[in-house]
Amino acid sequence: MTKNLNVKKEYLLQNQELFGKEIFLDIAQQSSPFPNQLNTFEKNICNCEKCDLHKSRTNFVFGEGDKNASLLLIGEAPGAQEDLEGRPFVGRSGKLLDKILKAIDRDRFNDTYICNILKCRPPNNRDPAHDETVACRSYLEGQIDLVKPRLILAVGRIAAQALLHSDFPVGRLRGRPHFLNDRQVPLVVTYHPAYLLRSPSQKR
Ligand code: URA
Repeated sequence: MTKNLNVKKEYLLQNQELFGKEIFLDIAQQSSPFPNQLNTFEKNICNCEKCDLHKSRTNFVFGEGDKNASLLLIGEAPGAQEDLEGRPFVGRSGKLLDKILKAIDRDRFNDTYICNILKCRPPNNRDPAHDETVACRSYLEGQIDLVKPRLILAVGRIAAQALLHSDFPVGRLRGRPHFLNDRQVPLVVTYHPAYLLRSPSQKR
């Protein structure tokens, strides 16, 4: 009984931290001690208008995968195909990413969760602007808090530099663990699949 109360208290506190004083309940997920908070989080933020990218987006691309994944993979921003489908990494580089995950016995729904620094597509696939990255940051932090991964993988320069507040190139950031703010979870950096499509010799 006490355990049950503690679980409910923890849920309410997390809810308050994420959404303020309003309570969002996802009645479709009643069997979980934490009614599916990622879905609720997505529903709560998917009409975001914090930056101008909402004006040109077709879809808000929240992320997808295993909600209890040990691996959280973070890319840059949705591209054209992602914007159309509302799903991350579904274009050409996504296909390569799927192959890379398969090579390590994973897939995007199996112990892996995929999202991006930005949830909306920058026009013409330009790099994310600083104010857009800042505006979207709390969404990413919320996803990290809810998925609770054991490892974060930043793919590509934009994701790595934004996450680590660094201007080092990927070549200098990869190959060693980093830590995000005061989080204990290690973050490693690797090349973006789009770069690997252009430079296949770097795949290995
Ligand atoms: N590139 C990214 O960084 N993210 C996507 O979702 C697609 C392409």
